[in-house]
Amino acid sequence: MADNRQPPLNGAYYGPAIPPPAQPRYSHHRSRSCCSCLFGFLWKLLVALIVLAGLAVLIFYLIVQPRSFKFNVTEANLTKFDYTNNTLHYNMVLNFTARNPNKKLSIYYDNVEARAFYEGERFANVDVNASFRQYKKSSNPMSGVFSGQQLLMLDNDQVSEFNKDKNIGVYDIYVKLYFRIRFRLGDVISGTYKPKVKCHLKVPLTSNNTTATFTRFVPTKCDVDFY
Ligand SMILES: *[C@@H]1O[C@H](CO)[C@@H](O)[C@H](O)[C@H]1NC(C)=O
Ligand SMILES: *[C@@H]1O[C@H](CO)[C@@H](O)[C@H](O)[C@H]1NC(C)=O
Ligand SMILES: *[C@@H]1O[C@H](CO)[C@@H](O)[C@H](O)[C@H]1NC(C)=O
Ligand SMILES: *[C@@H]1O[C@H](CO)[C@@H](O)[C@H](O)[C@H]1NC(C)=O
Ligand SMILES: *[C@@H]1O[C@H](CO)[C@@H](O)[C@H](O)[C@H]1NC(C)=O
Ligand SMILES: *[C@@H]1O[C@H](CO)[C@@H](O)[C@H](O)[C@H]1NC(C)=O
Repeated sequence: MADNRQPPLNGAYYGPAIPPPAQPRYSHHRSRSCCSCLFGFLWKLLVALIVLAGLAVLIFYLIVQPRSFKFNVTEANLTKFDYTNNTLHYNMVLNFTARNPNKKLSIYYDNVEARAFYEGERFANVDVNASFRQYKKSSNPMSGVFSGQQLLMLDNDQVSEFNKDKNIGVYDIYVKLYFRIRFRLGDVISGTYKPKVKCHLKVPLTSNNTTATFTRFVPTKCDVDFY
């Protein structure tokens, strides 16, 4: 029984065990060296491509020098800002300028829309400009006309802030501009970006009382966010 079992076991053991180690060793050696030379080549190619791509980006930046556009609120004319019976009655004209500081890129603006907030509550939404092209090193004026009334539920703290602003005659108004832009370099037009522009304004109420005209609106630079 034991004799009968052992030979087949040994045979079965040695049979598969001896040939495979010999052959795999050979092929392992060959594929290893082949693999490593192919790998080395691909690695060098990859490094070269990365360096080239980096150089291309660097050269593009050096030549084109892309810069973001700039937004400013140049004038504000607030003639009405009354809060009664949970309703805000407002009448405000804001003049903006958008400036493109780029020497090589022009910019397309589409669907420029402004939203105005008071005490964190949105009270108006206006379309400013449907679309225009801004050439290199130039600026364009725009104006947003905010006029009407809006139901606003201000709580007691917000109402006391409103009364403070009303006593000073200067209102803290926050305006966000939404739009789409595309950059153009020569005949190549980029994809669409949706930046956000935020303007924190202190807008004096313009009264037709000549004695109260000393509080003037201070032109304000807006923050530009890309993402
Ligand atoms: C402000 O608006 C009022 C009425 O809308 C107008 O009479 C006045 O001339 C404007 N003021 C300025 C400085 O534009
Ligand atoms: C505000 O509400 C009061 C009482 O509800 C009413 O008498 C008054 O006319 C309202 N004012 C306005 C401007 O709607
Ligand atoms: C805003 O700009 C318009 C022209 O776009 C001009 O007529 C108006 O007087 C300006 N308003 C103010 C307050 O500067
Ligand atoms: C949009 O802006 C451009 C450039 O300033 C101007 O030519 C065009 O008249 C504006 N369109 C509107 C609807 O305001
Ligand atoms: C300003 O003048 C308008 C009419 O032009 C008038 O309705 C309004 O009450 C006046 N406001 C002030 C504060 O004098
Ligand atoms: C205009 O100003 C004068 C002096 O500050 C003030 O007495 C008068 O009530 C004001 N008029 C209006 C309509 O606000």
